[in-house]
Amino acid sequence: MASAMPLPLMLLCLLVTLTHGSRLVLLRSTDDSGASPSSDACPSTASGHGNGNKLPLVHRLSPCSPLGGRGARKHGKASLDEILHRDGVRLRYLSGIQAAAAAAPAPAPAPSAMPASGLSVPATQNVISSLPGVFDYTVLAGYGTPAQQLPMYFDVSGMSNLRCKPCILGSSGAAPCDRAFDPSLSSSFSALPCGSPDCRQTTCSSGSLCTFTFQNSTFVFGNGTVVTDTLTISPSAKFEDFSAGCMQLDNMYFSDGPGVGNIDLSRSRHSLATRVLLSSPPGTAAFSICLPADTDTHGFLNIAPALWEYSGLAGVKYAPLVTNERGPNFYYVDLVAIAINGKDLPLPPAMFRGNGTMIDTQSAFTYLNPPIYAALRDEFRRAMAKYQPAPAFSDLDTCYNFTGLQQIELPDITLRFGNGETMDLDDRQFMYFFREHLDEDFPFGCLAFAASPDNDFPWNLLGSQLQRTKEIVYDVRGGMVAFVPSRCGLR
Ligand SMILES: *[C@@H]1O[C@H](CO)[C@@H](O)[C@H](O)[C@H]1NC(C)=O
Ligand SMILES: *[C@@H]1O[C@H](CO)[C@@H](O)[C@H](O)[C@H]1NC(C)=O
Ligand SMILES: *[C@@H]1O[C@H](CO)[C@@H](O)[C@H](O)[C@H]1NC(C)=O
Ligand SMILES: *[C@@H]1O[C@H](CO)[C@@H](O)[C@H](O)[C@H]1NC(C)=O
Repeated sequence: MASAMPLPLMLLCLLVTLTHGSRLVLLRSTDDSGASPSSDACPSTASGHGNGNKLPLVHRLSPCSPLGGRGARKHGKASLDEILHRDGVRLRYLSGIQAAAAAAPAPAPAPSAMPASGLSVPATQNVISSLPGVFDYTVLAGYGTPAQQLPMYFDVSGMSNLRCKPCILGSSGAAPCDRAFDPSLSSSFSALPCGSPDCRQTTCSSGSLCTFTFQNSTFVFGNGTVVTDTLTISPSAKFEDFSAGCMQLDNMYFSDGPGVGNIDLSRSRHSLATRVLLSSPPGTAAFSICLPADTDTHGFLNIAPALWEYSGLAGVKYAPLVTNERGPNFYYVDLVAIAINGKDLPLPPAMFRGNGTMIDTQSAFTYLNPPIYAALRDEFRRAMAKYQPAPAFSDLDTCYNFTGLQQIELPDITLRFGNGETMDLDDRQFMYFFREHLDEDFPFGCLAFAASPDNDFPWNLLGSQLQRTKEIVYDVRGGMVAFVPSRCGLR
């Protein structure tokens, strides 16, 4: 509760002027304590109403989140430590999936319009990354008939899942779960039998339901059943027989997160993205995501947007989607070069190519193959030589102490994709500014990039900070991702 005290909010105002090959950023603080967002700044709680298929999306620290913004306004080092911890967990999870796929290569990856078949029930996934309670952003979606409105995360794990009643009181004997899907109240609910083509569990026995155990190698968190019911995004976007892992979870582990489950947006056969592609006319993207620029505002998840809405808009950048057999459910773009102040880092395109660069909304920072990161860091440091370096903060090792400065000059960072398209990054996409103590100005800034974990295959990942000033449109059928500027406000 102490963290919710109305401390004066010091806002970092970034006023940007473009100069030749670099940008000036004014650092100044404003006392904004009177401007706490009122409840009418929060999006309507009904899914999709008035906004087509746009579901308002909020950060877990937002005043509009089901958690009511507990712990919001943490701009200090504590918040950075937490972000880095969460990123570490996420990277280990992604790394584990890619390593497992490399050890036992899956059949040839499916072409983009026909995503990989099969339902992968997350029986042995990393629990932290696949259960409610950990992700940053939620939307409100309906499941069941009549629709039960549930705060849901979204991910590319290959399987939607949600917490179902009855909840297990378990060892904690904690209060019953109020946020969970109740199958007994739905007229369209059905549980899949073991042996149905969509049940690939080898552990269930014929005559029973398609059950699975949710566990890591040492611990059983709960039991689940693969079920289907109607997913309602908006009055006009309903997906019947949408499958999900319906999990009975011990309250002890899941009383804390804002989300009840995950909507799978991956390339797997049962994902919402695939359902959209199978049911929509040509010229429809699977979905788009607009992450809010900060935790006080909201973005959206748009299901089945029409591509014509984006054609002709200024500044739209297209990047080819590539498939990667180590993560057939994930989205990878064909990044081929990074330039600083217009000059490519001295690296062969082959170093970027082939395995693609993952787009991930659950990691905050951008992680690069270690030699690529080293080249970027060295060039960035040369461009920033006039500023006072600050100690590394964990994985962020290119930090500066801007104490006393009114404005700073940052180099331009540009991404180039395999189709020749280039995208200049906004400083809000590549710098993370923070303060050490809550009553201070924002004297510290780090390059919001780091080296990816050093395992036996290199990989790159574009994190949520890099995505958040854009609407990112997943035109899966067209094999493209579009980065659309300045469309993140809900109207
Ligand atoms: C399994 O999860 C439990 C509870 O979170 C944790 O203590 C344990 O370390 C995990 N085991 C592995 C192998 O990850
Ligand atoms: C899961 O189901 C098994 C078999 O029915 C049962 O023994 C176990 O207690 C259940 N575990 C949890 C966490 O519900
Ligand atoms: C992906 O990365 C691995 C490890 O560096 C490399 O051996 C392989 O050739 C790459 N794949 C492609 C298609 O380039
Ligand atoms: C940042 O710079 C100021 C002014 O030079 C100095 O007083 C302060 O100790 C520095 N802080 C850190 C953490 O380096």
